[in-house]
Amino acid sequence: MNAVKYGIAFLLFIVVTAQRNPDSASMQMDNKGFVYHQFKPGELWYDDQGKLINAHGPGIIFSQNKYYWFGEKRGERTSGGVNVYSSSDLYNWKQEGLALSPDDADTASDIARGCVMERPKVVFNRKTGQYIMWFHLELRGQGYRAARAAVAVSDKITGPYKFVASFRPNGNMSRDMTIYQDDDGSAYIIYASRDNFDMRIAKLADDFLAVTADDKLLFSDHREAPAIFKYHRQYYLMTSACTGWKPNEINYYTSTSLWGPWKKSDNNPLKGPGAETTFGGQSTYVLPVRGKKDCFIFLADRWNPANLTDSRYLWLPVQLKDDKPEIEWTDAWSLDFFDRHK
Ligand code: DGJ
Repeated sequence: MNAVKYGIAFLLFIVVTAQRNPDSASMQMDNKGFVYHQFKPGELWYDDQGKLINAHGPGIIFSQNKYYWFGEKRGERTSGGVNVYSSSDLYNWKQEGLALSPDDADTASDIARGCVMERPKVVFNRKTGQYIMWFHLELRGQGYRAARAAVAVSDKITGPYKFVASFRPNGNMSRDMTIYQDDDGSAYIIYASRDNFDMRIAKLADDFLAVTADDKLLFSDHREAPAIFKYHRQYYLMTSACTGWKPNEINYYTSTSLWGPWKKSDNNPLKGPGAETTFGGQSTYVLPVRGKKDCFIFLADRWNPANLTDSRYLWLPVQLKDDKPEIEWTDAWSLDFFDRHK
């Protein structure tokens, strides 16, 4: 009798979890629930609660043996704030909650609910011991006209982050952006300016809470979605063209200094069907893999403007062949890819 009861309970469990998670085929079960062992670019990706990971335009940092994934909480045209997830293996992500919330109390606040927060990136400041979040901010009710960079701060990596200020760096418009922390600990904002016709860089102040006057035009190429990494003393800056939510062809620039000169490459680093549209995505971040020297993961968003929550994540391994990045499409892969391709 008991065996029948347990059999029915087990069947019910399978049915319920399969409904909750239509992508369960890409996962395996163990006694903790569903566990991922692979990246499956473009497929649904669930957190430890069985909910879709909602963290778009991501930035990821590593701290105390864990990765932290920050991204746009989407569910509406405007912003739901910045979500944060943690992981020790990059496949399985624990929901840590809302790192930065839009302001519900003050409609005059820069981050009043109805604003747009995009592409959040967090850096740790060794001098102050604080975590600093930068993001692209558009003010409530103003479409994409405000073109500001914004900064928030927390003593704890998962937040809650406290909003500090928003502004145009040194008076320059700032839309898509990224933050890069160099080996010496200094940090920089790289941002699309002058209605995206210019790509600029500005050094952050010592406490990372403001920009300094060290601010320079990198190139005027009408590009956005900057994602940067450093390999063999050279910086690689990937960017997209400017076509709203629609995908287009990625390109990249190289330089031995963040301040340039930046040399545009003629090669599309992406290989395989769909390479000419960045596999339907848009660059957002390049993640160095901890403990694997010179191994990088390219992160892109495959936007779904009709339902931004359901925009998909494209994570693909970067191969560096003769110092040239190559990113091939693959339906499924795991980190041991880097052991086979070195
Ligand atoms: C393209 C940008 O890269 C995205 O972050 C977002 O701002 C969309 N444009 C809005 O159209």
